[in-house]
Amino acid sequence: MIQPNSAFPADFLWGAATSAYQIEGSRNADGTGVSIWDVFTKRPGVVEGCGDGSLACDSYRRWEEDIELLQTIGLNAYRFSTGWSRVMPDGTGVANQLALDHYDRQVDALLAAGITPLITLNHWDMPQALMLSETDGGWLARSTAEAFALYVDAVTARLGDRVSRWITQCEPWIVQLLGYQVGLHAPGIKDLPRSVIAGHHVLLGHGLAVEAINANVAAAQIGVALSLFPCTPASDSAADAKAAWGSDGYVNRWYLDPLTGRGYPADTWALWAEIIEREQGGFSLDEVILPGDEEIIGRRLDFIGINYYTRRVCAAAEVGPDRAFPWAVVGPSGDIARSDEGWEIVPDQLRQLLLRLDRDYDHRPLIITENGGVFCDTPMHDRRVHDNRRIAFIRGHLRAVAEAISQGATVLGYMHWSLLDNFEWALGYRPRFGLSYVDYATGQRTLKDSAYFYGEIARTGQIPADDPAIVPYG
Ligand code: FCB
Repeated sequence: MIQPNSAFPADFLWGAATSAYQIEGSRNADGTGVSIWDVFTKRPGVVEGCGDGSLACDSYRRWEEDIELLQTIGLNAYRFSTGWSRVMPDGTGVANQLALDHYDRQVDALLAAGITPLITLNHWDMPQALMLSETDGGWLARSTAEAFALYVDAVTARLGDRVSRWITQCEPWIVQLLGYQVGLHAPGIKDLPRSVIAGHHVLLGHGLAVEAINANVAAAQIGVALSLFPCTPASDSAADAKAAWGSDGYVNRWYLDPLTGRGYPADTWALWAEIIEREQGGFSLDEVILPGDEEIIGRRLDFIGINYYTRRVCAAAEVGPDRAFPWAVVGPSGDIARSDEGWEIVPDQLRQLLLRLDRDYDHRPLIITENGGVFCDTPMHDRRVHDNRRIAFIRGHLRAVAEAISQGATVLGYMHWSLLDNFEWALGYRPRFGLSYVDYATGQRTLKDSAYFYGEIARTGQIPADDPAIVPYG
């Protein structure tokens, strides 16, 4: 029972998040189509350890166990994604009823267990059929935004009578950056100027999807999960402050502003225009961002989904052959807390981010759709996973959320990334983000100490005081 003196509201969504390609496996089951990740992972060298999603956590078959894990932990919400290439094997055309049946069963089981589903519609597993070639199509094509809306229509027509919370897109900036600018994620395109086209179509896809959701879901709550990185200046200098603001435009405001109905920010627009010209992109933004697009993108956003992992420390830098943007992400220096992936752990930046979003974006409700870290602890002699650093991570970040709520932000929920250790895209299976350890040889799941710790907070709304036995971040 949430105790009366908790900072968290009684209906707070305490959850964990996953995505289809990262956990499901069974890539050929039930008429599933080929996704861009099925194709991309076959390219030599693109995934650390040569892994792919063909087995992953085997969740397409073991999904009932995953729901039991949520119940054992004591969570009341689950963010998962429907597989785009499962539901639309050919990209457009007829929806695959067998895949929809699968998610239908999953939704019913979640509801029967008292767990609120939050469904992500695009967590990156686009049907390969939407690619025109290795270097074209996908989100570079405007028609993909329409294909996405067809898919969203099929899913929400089927599940919209029971599911009200929908996340159309996951991390438009990461899709644009890793998928189309630097080529580290599927579809593996490296095209700096055209990457901005891909990002625009992701946002346009959201706007077109809203129309479908409005038609199918009576009391929908629609959001986008944005990868938000607070950008802090490396020094007190005016030049570094300008660099941090520029980086904030590129990473955060370019998505937040149009989604909340304000259109693209002028400073970042000018920056992209400059880049397109310098790189001889051969097009202008006006030819891509058509009259009316910003209205479509800004149609409806009931909550801002926040994927928060760390911050970017930015210093002014000269543009040159190896630097397209006038800043350098220098990272913090010194003996600071880091995850096993080297990312700085800064919970207070989450508090500040929540307050900033509340202030700058009309007090819109906020949901933390992802937050977590890589802590590669494995089972010990007692078969338990004593992941004390994840415990400290969760405690720190939930304190930050509680403080932001007390200081006025409307935060509806927190989804830990992730319920399970899983396929971490180009990094393969090495990073472990889960509340549950997964033995990939057997599929066996073991809840880590952090899961029990988090579950206790979810049940009581109270964040325990520091445990002197636990050294934060080891
Ligand atoms: C986010 C992704 C998610 C996972 C986490 C670690 O960028 O949305 O799928 O990779 O990072």
